[in-house]
Amino acid sequence: MLSKVNLLKELPPDLDQSRLPRHVAVIMDGNGRWAKNRGKARIFGHQKGVDVLKDLLRCCQDWGISALTAYAFSTENWGRPQPEVEFLMTLFERVLRKELDEMVAKDVCIRFIGDLTNLPHSLQEEIKRGMEATKENKGVKFNIATNYGGRQEIIQACVAIASNVEKGLIKVEEIDEKLFENHLYTTGIISPDLLIRTSGEMRISNFLLWQMAYTEIYVTSTLWPDFNREKFHQALLNYQQRDRRFGKV
Ligand code: FPP
Repeated sequence: MLSKVNLLKELPPDLDQSRLPRHVAVIMDGNGRWAKNRGKARIFGHQKGVDVLKDLLRCCQDWGISALTAYAFSTENWGRPQPEVEFLMTLFERVLRKELDEMVAKDVCIRFIGDLTNLPHSLQEEIKRGMEATKENKGVKFNIATNYGGRQEIIQACVAIASNVEKGLIKVEEIDEKLFENHLYTTGIISPDLLIRTSGEMRISNFLLWQMAYTEIYVTSTLWPDFNREKFHQALLNYQQRDRRFGKV
């Protein structure tokens, strides 16, 4: 018998292909609680979370969604217990090393966004290798926010622009939205159409503050490790009922 996951290999017929979000962002919350509910350490939740993210990436590919951005580690997450932070850093590195060949084969273009300079050296190397190997790929754009903070991103853009003004490279009057966006980590990436946050929390937690000005937000009580294609289908159905006016009538 076919499993439900297999049944959802193709775009469910009740979704309108022409009105799918082009870019979906996810806040993968609830890994710790999922593990705790099973009497396990929090890291088991993160481990299961990777499998869910991998299937969501494949799903974007299968259903024709061109960009996926995942919030893997925020600038605030350094405040977690040291062993958990170390586990996450090692996990990112391990997953990247293990999955790179498949990403290359599947034409996925990987990009890490955030202040990467504070990450462990070996992870930085793996990130460089992954981005270099996939930079010409034309399939799904997979962005991973690591040591990412929306406020920090905006400040570093301001500093870079101010410094260019000081050096006489640009004039103050030239500063506009386009120029500002060119100094964000996400330059060249379209803004997310849909943000999905799991585990029921109704906040954006310093994620893509500039980019989400007009993003539709969908919150589900499902914990991230339980998220799957059917739940994604529900989120997309909900999205397709929204009337996106972008401030107009
Ligand atoms: C939030 O759940 C989850 C994280 C901070 C980590 C998410 C990371 C992954 C799923 C791994 C992704 C891997 C790659 C390679 C991109 P939580 O721990 O805050 O859960 P809680 O709210 O229940 O405590």
